[in-house]
Amino acid sequence: HAPVVVAIDGPSGSGKSTVSRAVAARLGLSFLDTGAMYRAMTWWMLANDIDVADPEAVAVACGKPVIVSGTDADGPTITVDGRDVSGPIRGPEVTAQVSAVSAVPAVRARLVELQRGCAGVAERGIVAEGRDMGSVVFPTATVKVFLTASEAARAERRATELRAKGLDEATITAMAADLARRDAADSSRATAPLTQAADAVLVDTSELTLEQVIDRITTLVEQRA
Ligand code: C5P
Repeated sequence: HAPVVVAIDGPSGSGKSTVSRAVAARLGLSFLDTGAMYRAMTWWMLANDIDVADPEAVAVACGKPVIVSGTDADGPTITVDGRDVSGPIRGPEVTAQVSAVSAVPAVRARLVELQRGCAGVAERGIVAEGRDMGSVVFPTATVKVFLTASEAARAERRATELRAKGLDEATITAMAADLARRDAADSSRATAPLTQAADAVLVDTSELTLEQVIDRITTLVEQRA
């Protein structure tokens, strides 16, 4: 029967990435970080001096880069035109511009096709994380999860993560503001905004441990696969 597709959507800081990888590893499935693809596209635009504030320019250029996304649950790499950009796509320049690039319909059309291709070749199935996995990319997914956490919980987790990396409080505050701006942009755009699919299971992670969230999703998949 059809390979398993686990669609996991939610805002930044909901714990999506950690949870999705852990679920993929536990179930022996491939893993797809679709945010990394939008980041890779943005990285290429910036590297090639495309004006990312100009949707027309972005639409014209977005067919050019060759983006290849790894699907390994422990540390997938992503390349653009053969160059590993896994590090640079996490930088502040890309983070600041990715919402503008990902709002362009031509960008989404191209990357959605790539995402479906990755799922198509995943042997046992795939855990795909993003903003529109359940609503647009994989409408017939085996399980759809919408992960949320209260704003306070998300901000706190993020700050803990950043403090561990040695960042100072001013930087952490600035990054929190940037994150709120990005979530607002992702939720209000015209094409494929962040939204909970009608048949998605809502999991609020504010009061749950990482293990509890992973258990919950793994159980859902085992019940339905
Ligand atoms: O998940 P991450 O925060 O790395 O995603 C970066 C950005 O990529 C998001 O803020 C959003 O603008 C975009 N994105 C998207 N659709 C997805 C995944 C990410 O528009 N499926």
